[in-house]
Amino acid sequence: MDKKRLFDDLIKGFILKHEKSEAIFKKASHSLITGGSHNLRLFSPFPFYDVQSSGSRVWDADGNIYVDFWQGHMANVMGHNPRIIIKALQDNFHKSQGLTTGFPGHHQRELAELILNQIGANKIRFTTSGTLATMYAVMLAKAFTKRELVMKVGGGWHGAQPYALRGITVYDRGMTRMESAGLPSGTDKMIVMSQFNDIQDLENKFKKHGERTACFILEPFIGSGGFIFSHRDYLQKARELSRQYGSLLIFDEVISGFRFHAGGVQSLYGIQPDLTVLGKAIGGGMPVSAVAGRDDVMALCGPDAKPEEKVKFDGGTFSAHPAAMLAGLTYLRYLIEHESEIYPKIGQFGEKVRKGIEEIFSTHGFNVRCTGYGDSIAEHSSLVGVQFLNEKIDRIAFPEQVWNPEVCDFELREKIFKLSMLEEGFNVFHGYGAISTAHSESEIQESLDAVERIAKKWCEYK
Ligand SMILES: Cc1ncc(COP(=O)(O)O)c(C=O)c1O
Repeated sequence: MDKKRLFDDLIKGFILKHEKSEAIFKKASHSLITGGSHNLRLFSPFPFYDVQSSGSRVWDADGNIYVDFWQGHMANVMGHNPRIIIKALQDNFHKSQGLTTGFPGHHQRELAELILNQIGANKIRFTTSGTLATMYAVMLAKAFTKRELVMKVGGGWHGAQPYALRGITVYDRGMTRMESAGLPSGTDKMIVMSQFNDIQDLENKFKKHGERTACFILEPFIGSGGFIFSHRDYLQKARELSRQYGSLLIFDEVISGFRFHAGGVQSLYGIQPDLTVLGKAIGGGMPVSAVAGRDDVMALCGPDAKPEEKVKFDGGTFSAHPAAMLAGLTYLRYLIEHESEIYPKIGQFGEKVRKGIEEIFSTHGFNVRCTGYGDSIAEHSSLVGVQFLNEKIDRIAFPEQVWNPEVCDFELREKIFKLSMLEEGFNVFHGYGAISTAHSESEIQESLDAVERIAKKWCEYK
């Protein structure tokens, strides 16, 4: 396929429809690095700048309307700006309540109880981003075990915090590279890399480093690594080995928490980690994240911890922010109350899209596999990744496949398919993205019709 010609044609079309966004981008680039503050939002040639988002849709400065499957970095299980959250916040603001006060408030207690109840942990503490929360979780583990090493998997993304900036997106005969400058010296030696879903590799790594390993942190459903669920026996082995070697097991459920059911994916596996990190959905659209887990580990961030063990996870001007706690509480209550309607609905849409996209591309001679399949673990998976394969493989099981350009064509997915879908009126990410309760059956079908037209069009470039 003449990808260059196709990409150039798509760019031309995009520029024509986004005159105002282009002007905003040019201005924004004077003050902001590449026109914004989050690289993933700033796709090529420039992002469209949104003026309104509601439910499944987003409106841009040029009047284009997109059905959005990015949905706030997958946080928005109920679409953009759900009425119940807006109303709860409006009512609160009308009472002149909601901005930061510096007091504990009562909503955080209610949100804490609710989350602990859903995931079965003892204690929880809130902060403001998934990045901070995973960093605190690792600090707790290091302090608790008095050990140095942090084990993570290739393709694991835990936010831009020093203990996890190795082996995220770069494939180089494996995924082990440090991916940020500016870190304390020796950080690379502190992070031990292992391969997701590979029991043998995990056993080898624990055998070699287990006694010095403070924690093994992983996403039971890996997001940036390709939308792949851990195999059950792999996760069981992770639990077994971490226990055997006295390391803590940390589940990063920033994406998976409240995405596949009203709780953590851990309960679908029946595996209890020592610490769980949550974020995204638990804030109901506001910046909330949390570390939850064992009493004895969480106690290290409290005032009674011994000075030499105390973890400075005890501040944050905006931690447990009043409006954010209220939004999170309102959101999670709704998800819990409506669990039996919400998750089967969005899960069925997910299944339809995954199967539909594979079928369409296969009919037109493209080798495409979707990820996000829940298999025997998550019955209702609403996340859809699309992988354009250079090799003939039946199934994607490892981030090392997703990020290896010889196996998966990342450019085709993130540049060409992204612009192709935008041209059709759909904003996708990781190939497709996150389905919410705001998406209708007809929008889902229309997105598949769009994929069909795109596959046909691509044939003209073969
Ligand atoms: C699994 C996982 N952990 C942690 C983070 C970091 O969260 P935040 O972006 O809220 O800092 C992310 C963000 O996408 C994530 O996907």
